[in-house]
Amino acid sequence: ASKEFSKMIEAHELIRKFYHHLLVNTKDGQHALEYLLNRGFTLASIEKFQIGYALNSWDFVYKFLTKRNFEPELLERCGLIIKREKDETYFDRFRDRIMFPILDQKGNTIAFSGRSLGADEPKYLNSPETAIFNKSKILYNFHLARASIRKQQQVILFEGFADCIAAERAGVENGVATMGTSLTSEHIALIRRNAEAVTVCYDSDSAGIEAAYRAATMLAEAGSHVRVALMPDGLDPDDYIKKFGAEKFNKEIIGSSLTFMSFKLLYFRRGKDLQNEGDRLQYIEEVLMEISQLDKAVERDHYLRQLANEFSLSLEALKEQQRQLYFAGK
Ligand code: UTP
Ligand code: MN
Ligand code: MN
Ligand code: MN
Ligand code: MN
Repeated sequence: ASKEFSKMIEAHELIRKFYHHLLVNTKDGQHALEYLLNRGFTLASIEKFQIGYALNSWDFVYKFLTKRNFEPELLERCGLIIKREKDETYFDRFRDRIMFPILDQKGNTIAFSGRSLGADEPKYLNSPETAIFNKSKILYNFHLARASIRKQQQVILFEGFADCIAAERAGVENGVATMGTSLTSEHIALIRRNAEAVTVCYDSDSAGIEAAYRAATMLAEAGSHVRVALMPDGLDPDDYIKKFGAEKFNKEIIGSSLTFMSFKLLYFRRGKDLQNEGDRLQYIEEVLMEISQLDKAVERDHYLRQLANEFSLSLEALKEQQRQLYFAGK
């Protein structure tokens, strides 16, 4: 099996280098390079992340690798080529796409994600699960970010490749991304082994905010110190950096991230009209529920006062109700 694994990695490594060469040095890759530069990618990040380009061809990878003595069956098991049912010939999985290599913790290329340049669906086409690629265990960029993560004892968690790369350009060296899947218990275990704290910095659209709530909840339950960074107007980190620059991103987004509790206070408000009595009472109850789950009396007191002030409620009444919830939950 280990012979098979190293062959699979070797195939990925060879094609990664060639994809990169095509993007950076050839006329065939020029439109892809222009696309990236227009989006704000730099040559330095294209180099660092070894980004490449897959030609608009049905059999380029097939020919390139079989010529170098890789068996088609092995390449199929890599997910690099796909077998046609009707005549058992093969075609390349990735065609006319920007190629993001996905590395394991040792820095071996084990998979790819290919972004379409136009409106082709899916936007990102990923390698399938293979003997060497288990999506639920891999965090994009963990290999490069690891040293910084351990040193800072903190992970910045993104949703997408572009966010991770834009943030790196902005000076965030401890960023990783989940590649669109939800955060798994294996991802969390990997994070827990390497850092105490996590800042969840997902897209600030409604899907991203829902996913951030779920991720932050799981991380907090696993014992991480969780903060959540939000951006205005539904932007994602890459959009934000392009629009407002690196300095503002570091200061006003990462540096001004919310405690998990403050994020929850905003989260429970979504879709509610606090002028409406029913909504308001529901909100207050949800917040009291959260407060009753805080360990520290000082923190419970802080948020109770905040709630009392905001809605001109009696602190005593809130405390009483919170105590009831607290004992109900024991
Ligand atoms: P997003 O839709 O937020 O994409 O998906 P993005 O990262 O902002 O991409 P750009 O800026 O349009 O290039 C977040 C992540 O979800 C995964 C990818 O990992 C993507 O980075 N995804 C998304 C897929 O795997 N497949 C898709 O078709 C779309
Ligand atoms: Mn290069
Ligand atoms: Mn998104
Ligand atoms: Mn996004
Ligand atoms: Mn984006």
